[in-house]
Amino acid sequence: MNVPTMQGLNVQAPTYVKNARLVAWVADMAALCKPARIHWCDGSQEEYDRLCQQLVDAGTFKRLNPARRPNSYLACSNPSDVARVEGRTFICSEKKEDAGPTNNWMAPAEMRATLRPLFDGCMAGRTMYVIPFSMGPLGSPIAQIGVELSDSAYVAVNMKLMTRMGRAVHDVMGTDGAFVPCMHTVGVPLAAGAKDSAWPCNETKYIVHYPETREIWSYGSGYGGNALLGKKCLALRIASTMGRDEGWLAEHMLILGVQNPAGKKYHVAAAFPSACGKTNFSMLVPPAGFDGWKVTTIGDDIAWIKPQPDGTLRAINPEAGYFGVAPGTNMKTNPNCMLSLARDVIFTNVALTDDGDVWWEGMEADHGGKLPEHLVDWKGQDWTPAIARETGAKAAHPNARFTAAATNNPALDAAWDDPAGVKIDAMIFGGRRSTTVPLVTEARDWQEGVYMAATMGSETTAAAVGQQGVVRRDPFAMLPFTGYNMSDYFQHWLNLGEKLQAHGATLPRIYCVNWFRKGADGKFVWPGYGENMRVLKWMLDRIEGTAQGTQTAFGIAPAYGEINWQGLNFSTEQFATVTRIDATAWGEELKLHDAHFDKLAYHLPRQLLATRAALQQRLGL
Ligand code: GTP
Ligand code: SPV
Ligand code: MN
Repeated sequence: MNVPTMQGLNVQAPTYVKNARLVAWVADMAALCKPARIHWCDGSQEEYDRLCQQLVDAGTFKRLNPARRPNSYLACSNPSDVARVEGRTFICSEKKEDAGPTNNWMAPAEMRATLRPLFDGCMAGRTMYVIPFSMGPLGSPIAQIGVELSDSAYVAVNMKLMTRMGRAVHDVMGTDGAFVPCMHTVGVPLAAGAKDSAWPCNETKYIVHYPETREIWSYGSGYGGNALLGKKCLALRIASTMGRDEGWLAEHMLILGVQNPAGKKYHVAAAFPSACGKTNFSMLVPPAGFDGWKVTTIGDDIAWIKPQPDGTLRAINPEAGYFGVAPGTNMKTNPNCMLSLARDVIFTNVALTDDGDVWWEGMEADHGGKLPEHLVDWKGQDWTPAIARETGAKAAHPNARFTAAATNNPALDAAWDDPAGVKIDAMIFGGRRSTTVPLVTEARDWQEGVYMAATMGSETTAAAVGQQGVVRRDPFAMLPFTGYNMSDYFQHWLNLGEKLQAHGATLPRIYCVNWFRKGADGKFVWPGYGENMRVLKWMLDRIEGTAQGTQTAFGIAPAYGEINWQGLNFSTEQFATVTRIDATAWGEELKLHDAHFDKLAYHLPRQLLATRAALQQRLGL
């Protein structure tokens, strides 16, 4: 398509780009950011390999030993750029109330005036990559198209693994198809002749969303959810506002298929906060005692869930890859994940072994408990077991991650990219709580399930910059990702349930879980990982009507005898420890629910207060 050349910059699009609005926008943004070059990504393997080589030459990537980890790379970020920056993430709706008390807000005009000078010339000396991508299967009516303009080749290659990226997206967009414009810069213009750093980023960071005009502007970070804008920014924050407007749900949920030995298959969606076990649960390998059971992955992080004319809810995974937590992953905790990482992977902030492979905390379990004698840690420094003992230095950053295509996963579900999605039979919500919250309970109805999800607390993790391990409310595991007022989001969930029920639909059951309760010794009591199958099976038994359960103050709980314990020693005492509902602890918990609701008072659905009152009464408080 024909566009004028500006200041020696060739903004000419390839002939297969036919969308005039896209071409005009790219020209506009190039005029603002003033890159040295524009590269229109075609998404080919050849392009991927070339950009990876370029990243190797720039020192951003290390090529791993091809004999151990074929076609794989290690990137180590600037130590100041290792996770999502929630304090710098903004929802810029026209009205502050529409962003709500859980989001940072600035008026759109003010934010635009703030960002404009920052973006002016921000790509000087760099290449602007034009990255067309589809969240959801290409051409599917439920997919959303985005185009990210980024000055980071690291972003371009990660987007190739994480989304359907490349030339085919232009065919879908055609001459006048819609797309979500996503602007991204690391915020480090390069003066002529200046040497670049291996991981350029800026101390100043802005991750900005304009929900009404559906635009994303990200400044200053090259990492993960801050920079791969299809994921949290588009598929959760912008998509949640689309869902509110159009009557569907964009959720921070894994989706799995689980088939019993008789061949009956169910689909389950589960929301756990960041770094709380979604990837793990989505790839679960059934333990001993579950012969003939099979779990398959549809998605590990995001679900788009849409009500159907027949009253069912069907879900798709809008992503095409995994950006998952490395530390803690090994052949015992998550073998399917380890197998997914055998080749064609980008690792970020893990450690490098002397033979050119990767290492992270938890991998010793695959080596008889033995630590490597020497590593180069994620900061590029020597690491030995002695240094670690002395200084506590971690070889991998706790939020170190891998990027791998979904097709690497040996447990990938056959329907993982079916545009029709899968029918959801159950939804699970689970936080990371050392105390108070029981292993599993089933909500008595949709409203109680929404209450459980809305009041969910979780101890903070390394997935976001800030203090770790403090309990905060993380409603629906969506605290950092709901693109509008949280109380309106609760109402949207309640409305959706009411609407479906009014048409006689059977809604998915809702469960609350906690894998993370600790004993007096400070250790997790529940073995977790594959053993979570035992809890999943009880949920399916409830759906089938073969497990009776017992009523508790906080939903319906399993009796000890209703769980299949074959192959696991887990005593009635241990079971009591992880399932106990302690009235004193719950008295304190209710105070936290109250404080949370006080903060969300504007538009808070009254039904939630009624559910809270009933809970208090059942607790005898
Ligand atoms: P995001 O990608 O950040 O949204 O997170 P995620 O929910 O996919 O997190 P992931 O599955 O990568 O979990 C990360 C952490 O949870 C690791 O430290 C795991 O070891 C730990 N984990 C996962 N499942 C379990 C479990 O069943 N029990 C315990 N105790 N830890 C678990
Ligand atoms: C999360 O933090 O929930 C993630 C990782 O899934 S990131 O993409 O960096 O947000
Ligand atoms: Mn996530």
